[in-house]
Amino acid sequence: MTRTPFGPSLSKKLSPDREGGKPITVTRIPRILSVANQKGGVGKTTTAVNLATALSAIGKQVLLVDLDPQGNATTGLGVKRSDIQTSTYDVIFNEAHVAEGAIRTKVPGLAVLPSSIHLSGAEIELVTTSRREFRLQEALRVPLPYDYVIIDCPPSLSLLTLNALVASDSIVVPLQCEFYALEGLSHLVKTIERVKKTFNPRLDIHGVLLTMYDKRNNLSGMVAQDVREYFGDKVYKTIIPRNIRLSEAPSYGLPAIVYDMRCPGARAYIHLASEVIKRERKILKTSEPLTSAA
Ligand SMILES: Nc1ncnc2c1ncn2[C@@H]1O[C@H](COP(=O)(O)OP(=O)(O)O)[C@@H](O)[C@H]1O
Ligand SMILES: [Mg+2]
Repeated sequence: MTRTPFGPSLSKKLSPDREGGKPITVTRIPRILSVANQKGGVGKTTTAVNLATALSAIGKQVLLVDLDPQGNATTGLGVKRSDIQTSTYDVIFNEAHVAEGAIRTKVPGLAVLPSSIHLSGAEIELVTTSRREFRLQEALRVPLPYDYVIIDCPPSLSLLTLNALVASDSIVVPLQCEFYALEGLSHLVKTIERVKKTFNPRLDIHGVLLTMYDKRNNLSGMVAQDVREYFGDKVYKTIIPRNIRLSEAPSYGLPAIVYDMRCPGARAYIHLASEVIKRERKILKTSEPLTSAA
């Protein structure tokens, strides 16, 4: 952990939020991206944490919202349970403001709205909650001091994930390069279409991300080809390789990009961030401004 992508020019990168040395808070409605796939273990959390970190490294102010009761993004960013006072749960159910819960991480420019164990009961609670699909949208689609909100979704197409889809501009779908990669995906695509029609017309798939690619394994190549045939240019050019450093980093409470920025996995996520930004420029240029919710 000798060098980080934040390097010596960090203060310059943060300069847009500083005026005469005094911090100023710029608020705007952030772009909201959810990392979603109802399958577990496909690389959602790894992608959410490292994409958020890479976006911070290029000077963006980023909030990572941990919507998974397991809280892997929270612990992976070094936040301890004892640091948490207000969580995503409180924002959804107790009308807490995002600012009350957001915790600064060791990564400059990156804050996390932590998960809590209470989220594991959220499904049942949401059923009887008013405007149950809009709770997260109402909390996040407001002026906030962030350019990007990245939501790490739980491994299900539950009401929690539905809240993320309703709140989001766009979805990043990680797909593990394994035999059943495409299985169940039509269900996710249909859900996104349904949410777009019913609750959130702005919603779109930002991109499909091939993860855990093993170049020594023919199957990985075949799966990647199949996914590209199915999703065409929605698939990011960047492929995330299988890399042990990516799985080690969370146990140090650090994103892989900070833990070892030279490892192939970290490099791939830095590359992904620049591809995401390129797509963002295209999307923002061509999209009609959508002002109000739903
Ligand atoms: N590219 C990768 N190479 C090696 N291990 C990975 C990679 N991406 C994720 N992992 C590991 O695989 C497991 C599942 O990844 P995770 O991001 O938690 O998936 P999800 O959030 O979809 O359940 C974790 O232990 C993680 O560290
Ligand atoms: Mg996860």
